[in-house]
Amino acid sequence: MPSVPRGNFSNRQTQFSERRQKIIQQRKSLPITPVEKRLVEEVRKHDVLIIVGETGSGKTTQIPQFLFDAGFCRDGRVIGITQPRRVAAVTVAKRVAEECGVELGQKVGYSVRFDDATSGSTRIKYMTDGLLLREALLDPYLSKYSVIIVDEAHERTVHTDVLMGLLKNVQLARSSSVSGGQGLIFGNKNMNKLLEKENDQSGSFLKKPHHEKYAPLKLIIMSASLDARAFSEYFGGAKAVHIQGRQFPVDIFYTRDAETDYLDASLITIFQIHLEEGPGDILVFLTGQEEIESVERLINEKLPQLPQENQKLLVVSIFAALPSEQQMRVFAPAPSGFRKVILATNIAETSVTIPGIKYVIDPGFVKARSYDPGKGMESLIIIPASKSQALQRSGRAGREGPGKCFRLYPEREFEKLEDSTMPEIKRCNLSNVILQLKALGVDDILGFDFIEKPSRAAIIKSLEQLFLLGALTDECQLSDPVGHQMARLPLDPLYSKALILASQFNCLEEMLITVALLSVESIFYSPRDKLEEARTATKCFSSPEGDHITLINVYRASNDFLEKRSMEMNTAKTEKVYRKWCKENFINSRSLRHARDIHRQIQGHVEQMGLNLSSCGDDMLQFRRCLAASFFLNAAVKQPDGTYRTLASGQVVQIHPSSVLFRQKPECVIFNELVQTNNKYVRNLTRVDYLWLTELAPQYYAMHN
Ligand code: CDP
Ligand code: MG
Repeated sequence: MPSVPRGNFSNRQTQFSERRQKIIQQRKSLPITPVEKRLVEEVRKHDVLIIVGETGSGKTTQIPQFLFDAGFCRDGRVIGITQPRRVAAVTVAKRVAEECGVELGQKVGYSVRFDDATSGSTRIKYMTDGLLLREALLDPYLSKYSVIIVDEAHERTVHTDVLMGLLKNVQLARSSSVSGGQGLIFGNKNMNKLLEKENDQSGSFLKKPHHEKYAPLKLIIMSASLDARAFSEYFGGAKAVHIQGRQFPVDIFYTRDAETDYLDASLITIFQIHLEEGPGDILVFLTGQEEIESVERLINEKLPQLPQENQKLLVVSIFAALPSEQQMRVFAPAPSGFRKVILATNIAETSVTIPGIKYVIDPGFVKARSYDPGKGMESLIIIPASKSQALQRSGRAGREGPGKCFRLYPEREFEKLEDSTMPEIKRCNLSNVILQLKALGVDDILGFDFIEKPSRAAIIKSLEQLFLLGALTDECQLSDPVGHQMARLPLDPLYSKALILASQFNCLEEMLITVALLSVESIFYSPRDKLEEARTATKCFSSPEGDHITLINVYRASNDFLEKRSMEMNTAKTEKVYRKWCKENFINSRSLRHARDIHRQIQGHVEQMGLNLSSCGDDMLQFRRCLAASFFLNAAVKQPDGTYRTLASGQVVQIHPSSVLFRQKPECVIFNELVQTNNKYVRNLTRVDYLWLTELAPQYYAMHN
C-alpha cells in the first residue's frame, strides 16, 4: 500500500486550519457580527422584520447562523432563505457549510431547480424564490419552516413578489391556526385535490390533519437598497432595521464620449487597469454568458502578446448557467503575483460578494425581460442599468479599501438613468405565475394581494394564453389533467404543454431534448471573428427543417461520441476528448453539459407523471407537427419583402442570423424566442405548414382566421 508522505499530510492539515482561522477572523470582522444579539431579539419580538444592509455586511451568510444558534430550529424545523438567483443560493450555501464546518447537504444545504443538496438533517436551507413557491404546492402551510428569509427583496423578481404575497397568507393562516384555525385565506379547493393526489404518491402529507395547530412563522425580508418603506407598508407597518456597512471611497471615472462597442471598451479598460494601476482585482459587469465568454476569449488571446512580466492575469467568470463545480472559482484568491479579473452578470451587484475587488468596470447595461401585453410577446432586451444598479456596482470597488469605478459612458448619461429598475412583474409574461397561483387555489388573480399589481391587461392576456393552451377551463379553473400536469412541471407553460403533447404525438424523446436545449444559453459558440468557420463546422448537424432538429442532431451526436469514448477510456480522458470534440465543432461544452443535466431532471418528472416516453424515430414530420401544435402562439409568415410577420401579434421580425433557416426563408415558421436589438429577431425556428396551424390549434386559428 502506498504510504502518505508525512510532510505533505501535515502540510494539508496546516492549510486546513489556516483556512479555518481565516474564516473565523473574517466572520468576526463583518459589520453584522456586533449586532447579533440585537437582531435575534428583534426577530423574537416581531413576526415580520425588514432588514436593510449594505452588500457584503454579512446578512445572507450570518443571519441564518445567528437564528440557528438562538434555537429557531430546536424542534427540527428549518430556516429557509430564498434568493432570486440559483448561483447565489448554491455558492452561499457552500460558504456557510464551510463556516459551520459541516458537509454541504447536512446541516446546511441548498435546493434550486434541477439541483438539490439537502437531506433530512438540513436546518439552514438556501433556495431560489421560485423553488419555495413550488414547495408551497406540496405543503401549502410551509409547515417545516420556522423562519423564512426572503433575501435580495430589492431585486423584485416576479417570484419574490408573488412569494411575499403567498407568505403573508401563510403567516396569517399559521398564526390563526394556533388560536383555532381558519386555514389559508384564499380558497384551496384545487389545492386539496392536488394534495390528495400528491399524497397518493408520497403518503406523507395528509397524515397531518387539516386542523393541526401550526407554530407561527417568522418572516424576514432582506434588502440591499435603502428604501425599506414599500416592504414595511406592504406588511402592515413592519419594523425595519438598518445595518451599518463599511464603505471606502470609490473614485468614479466616465468616458468622454459614448462608446459604440462596450465589449471592446471593456477589453481596453481591463488591459489599461492591468498595465497602469496598482494591485487589486477587477470586476466587469456584462449582460450574459455569451458576452462573458467572448470577452474571456479575447483576453486570453491578447494576453500572450504582452511582455512576459505582464501576463499574470487570471480570468474567472460567474453567471447563472455556470456549472456548479466552477462557481466557487471566483471566490478563490488569485495565485501570488497574479491579478484576477472577474467577468460577471448583475449577479455580482448584490447577490454575491467577491473579496479582493478594487476596480469595477461598468458598461452600464443589463439584460432584462420585457413584455408587451397588447402583443402578448415577451422578449429579452439589453437596456441601460438603473442609477441604483450603477451605485451598487461601483460600491463593489470599495469594500476593503479605496477603489476605482470606470463607467463606460459619459457623465451626462448617468443623470438620464432611471432611479431604479421596474419590478419584473410589470414587464413579464404572467402565465407561469398565474398557473402556480391557480394550483395553489388562488382563484381571483386580479384580486391577489401583490406588493405591486401587474396591469390588468397583462393578467388577462396571460389568462387567455393559458386558456388557449388548455390549462384553464371556461370557468378559469385549472383543467384536469392538462392544467394540473402543467403546473407540476418546473418549466415555462409553453414547454410543459409541448412535453404533454409530445407524449401524444409519440415524440417525447425528441421534445425532451429540445426543451432541455432551449432551457440553456445557445449551445453553439460563434466567435465574431470566426463566424464562417463556425458555420462550416456545424453544417454536418444542420437540418433543412430548422433549428430544433439541428439541436437534436447535436445532442445525439455528442451522446454517441461520449458513449463510444467512455467505453474506451477513463473519465478524465473522456472529458478531455469530449471538450476537444466540442471545440472543433464550435459547440459550447458548458451549455451542452448543463442541458444534459436538465434533460435528466425533466425526464424524471415526466416519467413520474406517467407520460409516454417514445420516439418518432426518423419521422421528423411528426415532430414538426408537434412543434406546431405546441408553439402555435409563436408562428410567423414570410412577407413579400423577406421579413416575417408574427401571426399572434402582427409584429415584423427577421430570422436571427444564427438560425439554420437564415438563408432559406421558408414560408411559415414557429419560433421560441424573440430578441430585440436594433431589429427584432426570432430565434430557434422550425419550418411548418401553415395549414397545420388551423388543423392543430383550431381554438386559436379558427377564431383568428
Ligand atoms: O448578504 P450580504 O451582502 O450582507 O453579505 P454576505 O453575502 O453574507 O457576505 C459576507 C462576507 O462573506 C463577504 O465578506 C464575502 O466576501 C464573504 N463570502 C465569501 O468569502 N465567499 C462566499 N462564497 C460568500 C461570501
Ligand atoms: Mg446577501
